[in-house]
Amino acid sequence: MKELDNRLKAILAEIDCEALADIGCDHGYIGVSALKSGRAKRLIASDISEKSLSKCIRLAASEGLGEKVKFVVSDGFENIRDKVDTAVIAGLGGYEIIKILERAKSLNRVPEKLILCPHQNASELRRYLSGTPVERDYVVRSDLKFYPVIVISGKGERYLETEFGYGKNLPPSTDFTEMLFRRLNVLDERFRERTMPEKVKTEYDEIKELLCRK
Ligand SMILES: C[S@@+](CC[C@H](N)C(=O)[O-])C[C@H]1O[C@@H](n2cnc3c(N)ncnc32)[C@H](O)[C@@H]1O
Repeated sequence: MKELDNRLKAILAEIDCEALADIGCDHGYIGVSALKSGRAKRLIASDISEKSLSKCIRLAASEGLGEKVKFVVSDGFENIRDKVDTAVIAGLGGYEIIKILERAKSLNRVPEKLILCPHQNASELRRYLSGTPVERDYVVRSDLKFYPVIVISGKGERYLETEFGYGKNLPPSTDFTEMLFRRLNVLDERFRERTMPEKVKTEYDEIKELLCRK
């Protein structure tokens, strides 16, 4: 198996469970690595796309783990009937993750622990989770991008209004500060010769405020 990048390594490090559901598994690196390293004893690898799931089937077979994985074509938790204590939902947009969690709630299939890594619209996902305690929410830099990792396990504090945009930085990391500086530079460049719309100005001030607290 190829070496995991920082994003996948961070997600893997959050897994420590009996039964893991890797929702939207695609290539399968997360679930198969969890099984291989013993971080998960059992794995349900699922994807809405049969074609994507077949990549995971190939990876598990190449690692000699094919017999130990249950592969399920499923939209979110729809066809996942096994009891799992942890689920990873990574690489999907925030709105898609919200849809999956809402449906899981109505099916009574939300596991005790969720490891979420939205690729877009993370702030909308945080807003959706606003009534829920959050164990960890931090940023991980992988290649040239920054990804949020959100861990929900029944422990921790709820989001503050000021944390929806960029998260809790919990545990604190230099990746978080770097992400804020980058975003500030992007906005500086973009609005060098024109006035910032009110919404952008609010974001700009918010970032500055966060950086001042460092
Ligand atoms: C970009 S890949 C992410 C792969 C891996 N989880 C990761 O983080 O590297 C997104 C995968 O999610 C799957 N997907 C999208 N919507 C889904 C849904 N509602 N339920 C299950 N899988 C979904 C897609 O088919 C695709 O294989």
